[in-house]
Amino acid sequence: MRAFRAAGLIAGLTITVLASPAFAQGKLNMYCTANEEWCKVMANEFNKKTGIDIAFTRRGTGETYAMLKAEKDNPKGDIWWGGTGDPHLQAAEEKLTVKYEPAILKELHPWAKAQWDRSGGRTVGIYMGAIGFVYNKEVAAKKGVTPPACWADLLKPEFKGEIQMPNPHSSGTAYTTIATLVQLWGEDKAFEYLKQLHASINQYTKQGPAPGQAAARGETMIAITFLHDGAMSKRRGFPVEGVAPCEGTGYEIGSMSIIDGARNLANAKRYYDFALSVDGQRLADAGESYQAPSNRGTPPSPYSPDLSKIKLIDYDFAKYGSSAERRRLLARWDAELKVGAPK
Ligand code: G6P
Repeated sequence: MRAFRAAGLIAGLTITVLASPAFAQGKLNMYCTANEEWCKVMANEFNKKTGIDIAFTRRGTGETYAMLKAEKDNPKGDIWWGGTGDPHLQAAEEKLTVKYEPAILKELHPWAKAQWDRSGGRTVGIYMGAIGFVYNKEVAAKKGVTPPACWADLLKPEFKGEIQMPNPHSSGTAYTTIATLVQLWGEDKAFEYLKQLHASINQYTKQGPAPGQAAARGETMIAITFLHDGAMSKRRGFPVEGVAPCEGTGYEIGSMSIIDGARNLANAKRYYDFALSVDGQRLADAGESYQAPSNRGTPPSPYSPDLSKIKLIDYDFAKYGSSAERRRLLARWDAELKVGAPK
């Protein structure tokens, strides 16, 4: 069994991949919000292919969106690759990112192109993945509990203190979860549920992948997370199982955007084209990432959860990807749960 390279512990660390001096072709600064392993593979392969020195930092999607706002007058990033689509749409609405129309758009699945259309070309879909739970089978067996199958099950007394989820201020996974519950049940019922669930949450982590990693290590019984992150842990040999909630669930269109004022704009466009290409998307497997790829020519990994077998809601990306809706939902979460944003 391979140990996690604890993304949570080294989060925020900038990793730079340098070409040999003779081959150096300029720079690219990437804000990466996919899993760290995949960020590394993409950076290495892009560097090998182009000779461009690439530096990346893995942060949460909400955290990265907040950084773009903070750096608006002095942008430091060039390309924002990965992470849930809603904050990419919010950044697009606020013109923190720019329009780019690559020829490769025609190779994409309609859901990925739809993300480009609804943002006026400022962001594009690179993958798709569904929200669910991941539980540690050994911990559940040791405690003699039946694993949860539905959102409603998470409120059972036996799961008190056993559930971990990320914080929606910093994590796109958590924002997608809240928006999912609101779309499933209406806002009042969703917040009533979240308040009751609060009593069972042992930690709200800063980044989305952390709860699934904690469940894999047996530090929490259950994680609310993307199911493909559970598939990664399972493939690594951890005793986990993913559950698509019986009531239905929401999903992300993982996205990519070019940052307004990018100092290395031409290199950002090269990366953008590379990340949408069949060869670029095939690297997900080497990056142990099992989302559904957006290029129609790239088959999903055999380890990817089968999205056609999951009861997916008709997620309203335009609504939940708007800045006003984000502000409102996060304000209500703060007011009713009193957790606040992570420091
Ligand atoms: C993981 C998942 C991605 C998702 C991302 C969101 O990396 O594999 O599919 O887009 O989390 O991260 P966040 O930290 O914003 O929840």
